[in-house]
Amino acid sequence: MGVKRYAVPVELTGWKTQDNTGAVQFSWDYDSGREKLLSLYDKGKRRQWDAKVRIDWQHRVDLENPLGSEDYYVPIYGSQVWERMDTAARGELKLHLASWQFSQFLHGEQGALICAAKIVQNVPDMDSKFYAATQVMDEARHVEVYSTFLNKLELAYPINPNLRSILDQVLSDSRWDMTYLGMQVLIEGLALAAFGMIRNLTGNQLARELTAYVMQDEARHVAFGRNALRDYYPQLSEHERKEREEFCAEACNLMRSRFLAHEVWDTLGLGTDECLEWVERSEAQQAFRNLLFTRIVPVLRDIGLFGETMRSAFEKMGVLGFADTDLDALMADDERVATEIDGARQAEVSSSIRAAMEDQEHLS
Ligand SMILES: [Fe+2]
Ligand SMILES: [Fe+2]
Repeated sequence: MGVKRYAVPVELTGWKTQDNTGAVQFSWDYDSGREKLLSLYDKGKRRQWDAKVRIDWQHRVDLENPLGSEDYYVPIYGSQVWERMDTAARGELKLHLASWQFSQFLHGEQGALICAAKIVQNVPDMDSKFYAATQVMDEARHVEVYSTFLNKLELAYPINPNLRSILDQVLSDSRWDMTYLGMQVLIEGLALAAFGMIRNLTGNQLARELTAYVMQDEARHVAFGRNALRDYYPQLSEHERKEREEFCAEACNLMRSRFLAHEVWDTLGLGTDECLEWVERSEAQQAFRNLLFTRIVPVLRDIGLFGETMRSAFEKMGVLGFADTDLDALMADDERVATEIDGARQAEVSSSIRAAMEDQEHLS
């Protein structure tokens, strides 16, 4: 673990959030846990894993194409800037894009670690404290996984200012549900969709493996946020729900239109304005950005934050259609893929043990 090379010197990227949250809630009721949340807690305990053991870190990563992806997925593919680049420059761009993306995952995971710890403190119910405690461990593991992967890329980027501003808002709000809403629903929902695309498209075995395992945990986290908020939001007034919808609409807009890797275009001197203009206009890129909302839209509908404000924001973004996505089917699929990869790896390990034993027998 440990990133060694930073695109911007790490001492220049420090950031402290003012903690004015105050509220630490004890619960003296040890008997009235909700079954759904307690079963997620049990699942969380059973599904703990060790990143050093479960992931085969020996898999090679090609530094000129770390995710083993087609050129088509480079955001500026087809633009004049792209056409002017030679093979080496394109390889360097792919490295920087992968590093930027995985760095945002890494910083987001640290945000999730801090949010999960905050939930343990702030949430009033014991069942939620239990569950969040398992999530703290999950998120520490994710930070470990992403920093180890970035170490292989030998390059890390600082946190994107827009991701940072959402994290800042979530962490400085004293209402416990805002931590869930911002982290478990919005940031993790967006991350899950991005992870899903990487898991399904990457040609690199290591990236596929670690993403599938992280997704298996994340699907549980989103389920937790969804279950807890579905109980809570019907109790709020319309005004309070509207306020939350406005927060979600603003955060979604920020994530959709301001999360376009401008740091990479800047760092490589590719002409940031020209690149951004291409990315914003490209139909393929727009479709790709919309896909990032497949997990967020149906959860917001499910938890009852789907009034006029939310619906019209999603309508404008062109993602309202995702409201009907079958979340349970998606989560079952996340579970299935991780289990399959696990199975293949175990088969591989036992066949190499068998081969080694046969060699041994041969020799003796
Ligand atoms: Fe995570
Ligand atoms: Fe998470």
